Amino acid sequence: MKDQVIIFDTTLRDGEQALSASLTVKEKLQIAYALERLGIDVIEAGFPVSSPGDFESVQTIAKHIKNSRICALSRAVEKDIDVAAESLKAAESFRIHTFISTSTVHVQDKLRRSYDDVIAMGIAAVKRARKYTDDVEFSCEDAGRTPIDNLCRMVEAAIDAGATTINIPDTVGYTLPSEFGGIITQLFNRVPNIDKAIISVHCHDDLGMSVANSMAAIQAGARQVEGTINGLGERAGNCALEEIAMIIKTRQSLLGVHTNLKHDEIHRTSKMVSQLCNMPIQANKAIVGSNAFSHSSGIHQDGMLKNKNTYEIMTPNSIGLKNQALNLTSRSGRAAVKSHMDTLGYTEHEYDLDKLYTDFLSLADRKGQVFDYDLEALMHFSNLRD
Ligand code: KIV
Ligand code: ZN
Repeated sequence: MKDQVIIFDTTLRDGEQALSASLTVKEKLQIAYALERLGIDVIEAGFPVSSPGDFESVQTIAKHIKNSRICALSRAVEKDIDVAAESLKAAESFRIHTFISTSTVHVQDKLRRSYDDVIAMGIAAVKRARKYTDDVEFSCEDAGRTPIDNLCRMVEAAIDAGATTINIPDTVGYTLPSEFGGIITQLFNRVPNIDKAIISVHCHDDLGMSVANSMAAIQAGARQVEGTINGLGERAGNCALEEIAMIIKTRQSLLGVHTNLKHDEIHRTSKMVSQLCNMPIQANKAIVGSNAFSHSSGIHQDGMLKNKNTYEIMTPNSIGLKNQALNLTSRSGRAAVKSHMDTLGYTEHEYDLDKLYTDFLSLADRKGQVFDYDLEALMHFSNLRD
């Protein structure tokens, strides 16, 4: 069994659905650059048929992001798939993601179709998407509540039609970890062509089990996890990818799998998403909450001073949480800006320090403190203007 877990980020699609005010195209591009830098394998950039703004965002992200695969969502409907393909044309590498509901309540009361019709629609959608790319993901919406015989039939048919990734969502966050892991095990045991596709999971957090369910699925053989930064998403949100990343890193010897993420980008990506989306992070949130690495009680502090292993299972440094010696404000000089850019790994060939410093000063006047991700955005947007 392959040991890489593919990380599929849907902050800009499923996550953005939760916001009262949509992100602008520029803000989405800024987040996409951060996701690329974090090492995300697949970025779901939007649902292009849903609005002209979404189409434009996917198109812009597809044009600028080179190191992550760009994905667009479509219902199992010809027009959606054609529009998704059109929006992705400029991408270096892309995926079309198509989905249909498979649970009894959705099939009977939402789609009002027979299950045979649903299977036929799923097959037709996968075949249509395969005309544009050989990277097609098919999702069985509400798989967590789908009778297992029906789910096996749908998955087998979608793989036969050419789907290369099969996604099993727990759309309403209903299942227990043992139950959800059991669904994945049953798929591996009962679907004859299962080895031809990567099995993916997409868990929602209505009962607070999205991360546990995703981990149970990985232990049962799933090799793609879908989620969002900070667990952003509809209702109680999606699986928090920073938690998945750090569980896999911290418990690697037990789990025997890895991701390609750059863990030290987690902190700043999380901050950026929280600020741009106007969604504060609770202080005790695992990994990225402001208290996640602070020790308050006397006994704990005493232990930490003697040996950090007493109460620390991962270091703040490992997620990129450093004590920033120089805060950037309108009083900072060019040297401070350059030093931050050096720390971020940019050389002066990649940006013009004079231009960056001018843009920095006008932003600092408006905003007060300027963060590293702001600097990066200024650099990208100034390069786009050239
Ligand atoms: O939660 C869900 O089922 C989804 C699908 C579209 C993948 O977001
Ligand atoms: Zn979802």
